[in-house]
Amino acid sequence: MNDAKEEIKARLPVEDVVGQYIELKRAGKTLKGRSPWGVDKTPSFMVSPEKGIWHDFSANKGGDIFTFVMEVEGITFREAMEKLASQAGVDLSKYQGGDKEMSRKKARVKEALEFSTKYYQWCLTKSKKVWEYVFYKRNLNKQTISEFRIGYAPKNGKALTDFLTKKGFSKTEMENAGLLNRFSGDLFRGRMMVPFIDTTGNVIGFTARVLDKSEPKYLNTPETILFNKSRFIFGLYQAKEAIRKNGFVVIVEGNMDVISSHQAGVKEAVATSGTAMTEMHLKALSRLTNDIRLAYDGDDAGVNAGERAIKMASELGLKMSVISDYHGAKDPDELIQKDPKLWQEAVKKPMPAIDWLLLKYEERLDLSTAEGKQDFANLAMNLIKDLPGVTQKHYKQQIARRLDVEISDLELSVKEKNSAVFQRRKKQVKNSNQKSEVLKKIEDNLLAILIYGGVNSEKIEIEIPEDEVRLEELELVFENEYGKWETEALEKEVVALERRRKEEIKKTEILRLSEQLEEADDIEKKKILERISQIRKG
Ligand code: UTP
Ligand code: MN
Repeated sequence: MNDAKEEIKARLPVEDVVGQYIELKRAGKTLKGRSPWGVDKTPSFMVSPEKGIWHDFSANKGGDIFTFVMEVEGITFREAMEKLASQAGVDLSKYQGGDKEMSRKKARVKEALEFSTKYYQWCLTKSKKVWEYVFYKRNLNKQTISEFRIGYAPKNGKALTDFLTKKGFSKTEMENAGLLNRFSGDLFRGRMMVPFIDTTGNVIGFTARVLDKSEPKYLNTPETILFNKSRFIFGLYQAKEAIRKNGFVVIVEGNMDVISSHQAGVKEAVATSGTAMTEMHLKALSRLTNDIRLAYDGDDAGVNAGERAIKMASELGLKMSVISDYHGAKDPDELIQKDPKLWQEAVKKPMPAIDWLLLKYEERLDLSTAEGKQDFANLAMNLIKDLPGVTQKHYKQQIARRLDVEISDLELSVKEKNSAVFQRRKKQVKNSNQKSEVLKKIEDNLLAILIYGGVNSEKIEIEIPEDEVRLEELELVFENEYGKWETEALEKEVVALERRRKEEIKKTEILRLSEQLEEADDIEKKKILERISQIRKG
């Protein structure tokens, strides 16, 4: 695997790979550009062609071409490797040892699915009835149909299996691709076929819709060696450029909503297997943008799933907003059929998740009764209790007004109610994330000086990395931040950084212990408090 990595690196200059995503300008030995994570005001993204690495000073991350593609595309190392190998013209199978059999199997499944897609696409052009459904009933134009590779699976039950057999595929291979039913015939019959395309552009499965009102409406590829429902994000392949460029993503419920949205010019839309969103989906999207807008259907199922998604996002420390102004339509697709402009406008005006949840609580409870008011107060106060001061005050005022009470009444009513589990977890995740960010930045700078600044480091206990990519990244940090500094200034900086580092470590430890405090019994509490005061003393 390492040989393959080196071979790919040798063939693909880092500035070419990064240059596909960001505009780079030369600045001496390095190249500069804007952070693809959109957090910088001045260009703070650097590439060193000489070292084959990049570093983003605003987002505080860096690495080689593989980590770059992983971060920017939100994909795994494996996927990044495959993507770059194909760009470099490197045949990965030559380098694989143990999992050779598995990768051969996967390659065959990919091939079978690619043939199937082309076959289904061809069948669509041959069937007037289906063409009319896609074209007139779903209002999809030729460009959209070809961009999403929409096709049709014939009815007879063995059209595809016959076709693939002729192409040399075995029943086992078709089975591995998830194309067979339990009698080894075609799984998909008489349905509009929409391929699942992964972020590298490979077809990994299908979702298939009936053309009438029969059930089930959609039939999907089962879990296979390529398709994993909890990870796959529909439309991401087509959306990722727009998401990166415009800095936000819209998550809709239906795959057809995604397709309509793209056709309506809102190309930031993706779907996460209906309402079954997982943490993996959210994490992958959050690597592309921190502006996540939810646009589920307006029915009860959509609202419940929306609540779930907001909670999940908040546990992960992610910001989420909600698009809910559908002008009476049930979902984005229906709104787009009414008028694409309404959808284009709606995605520009998302509502903060909290405002949306408050509205939903209000709709659900009867605020003319004492009980309803109390329930609303409890839910609402719980929702806002971790918000920063001014924001919290804003909502308290709103809630109080809504219930026709004073803010002080609200505070009394929830004294004992402050332990919703998810709120606490959210705080933990958020805090520890923030800490490690600050600490990482301090340690990066410290290491950069210690390794490349020629400063004596005997007194400092810190592990020096051995990984080459990491070392080169630190060298870039050094050149960028301390390149022109005198030794004396560097020595002072080391002392200052080391002091800040120790404080930061202490702070993190105290925070961790105080969180334990909340759940500890009396004896444990005493011990934890002692430990905290020890740390404080130093
Ligand atoms: P919807 O029924 O809301 O999809 O289901 P839609 O896009 O509005 O469908 P159209 O417009 O009637 O064609 C949302 C999602 O739930 C999953 C699919 O992923 C679908 O995109 N679903 C729904 C299924 O997997 N199977 C079903 O039978 C129905
Ligand atoms: Mn729908």
